[in-house]
Order: sequence, then structure tokens, then C-alpha cells
Amino acid sequence: MYKDAALERALIWIEPGPVVLVTTRDGLKNNVMTVSWTMAIDFNGHIALTTGPWNHSFAALLRTKQCVVCVPSASLAQTVVGIGTVSGAQVDKFKHFGLTAIQAKYVCAPLIDGMLACLECCLEDFIEPYGFAILKVLRVVENDSPKDARVLHARGDGTFCADGERFDFRDLMAQKLPPGL
Ligand SMILES: Cc1cc2nc3c(=O)[nH]c(=O)nc-3n(C[C@H](O)[C@H](O)[C@H](O)COP(=O)(O)O)c2cc1C
Repeated sequence: MYKDAALERALIWIEPGPVVLVTTRDGLKNNVMTVSWTMAIDFNGHIALTTGPWNHSFAALLRTKQCVVCVPSASLAQTVVGIGTVSGAQVDKFKHFGLTAIQAKYVCAPLIDGMLACLECCLEDFIEPYGFAILKVLRVVENDSPKDARVLHARGDGTFCADGERFDFRDLMAQKLPPGL
């Protein structure tokens, strides 16, 4: 079940560098792609990902200037990789991978059911030639009862790992942490 969360929480989902699923909607059709090149870039709700015209999603992202960045749990790894190996130009990936689309509040692209969190975003800028898409997060929803709370990390060589041990240095970092985190 998704619950709305503070916008500041976008950072805690993107800062660890998880593999994400990015949804777009082109006209009447939803699409989704896998993206591992993501980063948080400030405390004001901006995040970045790199992508380009080799992906079918790209045209919809640039035209609508909207997408949803969904954070899947590590147990969905095989599906996540599958989504990143076929194109929405040929395959209805929501149908093929058994994904359930949920209407977003602020953007035309859908949330995906069963994720750890979904960030509704608008595209503020696209920086060529690096393919840097600068996104502003408009809404954060979080799964309040995930079966697997580990995010997935890509190692860049076709292997992946799940979240491991956590270290809590919140006291040491108190001065650096913005309100809400
Ligand atoms: C693990 C993994 C990570 C990926 N990361 C990115 C990425 O960071 N940026 C990107 O543009 N494509 C990335 N891709 C490739 C796209 O997900 C892939 O080209 C996908 O088929 C695009 O779907 P579309 O053509 O329906 O848009 C990744 C694929 C995989 C499997």
C-alpha cells in the first residue's frame, strides 16, 4: 500500500544509487525502462538520470516532460533486468512483465504497484551531449509494508547486489542533514 511521504524523502531513495524503473506515457500507452545511472543532485528535490534516444521511452520523456521513477526491491531483480532488455516499441512491457499501473497524481506516466517507492517527476532540463536528464520530484509515495525492503544495485558487469548492512552515523552527520531527513 502506498502512502504519501515528504518530498525530502526522495533523497533517501536515490542517494544509495539503486536500479530504478522509469515509467513514461506516450499518448495512450504506458512504457517502462530500467535505469541504473541515477543520482541525487541537491536537497531541493532534484535528481538526475542519464539516458538517450536509443530508448523508446526517451521521446515520451522529452515530449511530455514527465515520468515516474520507481524503486523496486532486490527480489524483483530478474524482472528489472528483463525490462531493460526489451523495447516498448515492440512489447507492451506492463502486460509482458505483469506490472500493474496506478494513476499518478501530478504526471501522465503511471506508478507501478509493488515498488518500494515511486517518485512522480517532471523533466526540468536535458543536457546534451551527456544525456543528463534533470528531474524535479513532485511527489513521493512509499510502500508501508514491503516484503523485501532491500534496494537493488548494479555492479556494471551484468552482476547485481542487494542492500547489505546499514551503519547509522546520524548523530555525527546531524549538522549536514536537512530538515525532514
Ligand atoms: C540493469 C540495466 C540498467 C540500465 N540502465 C540504463 C541507464 O541508466 N540509462 C539508460 O538510458 N538505459 C539503461 N538501460 C537500458 C534500458 O533500460 C533499455 O534500453 C530498455 O530496453 C529501454 O526501454 P524502451 O526502449 O522501452 O525505452 C539499462 C538496462 C539494464 C538491464
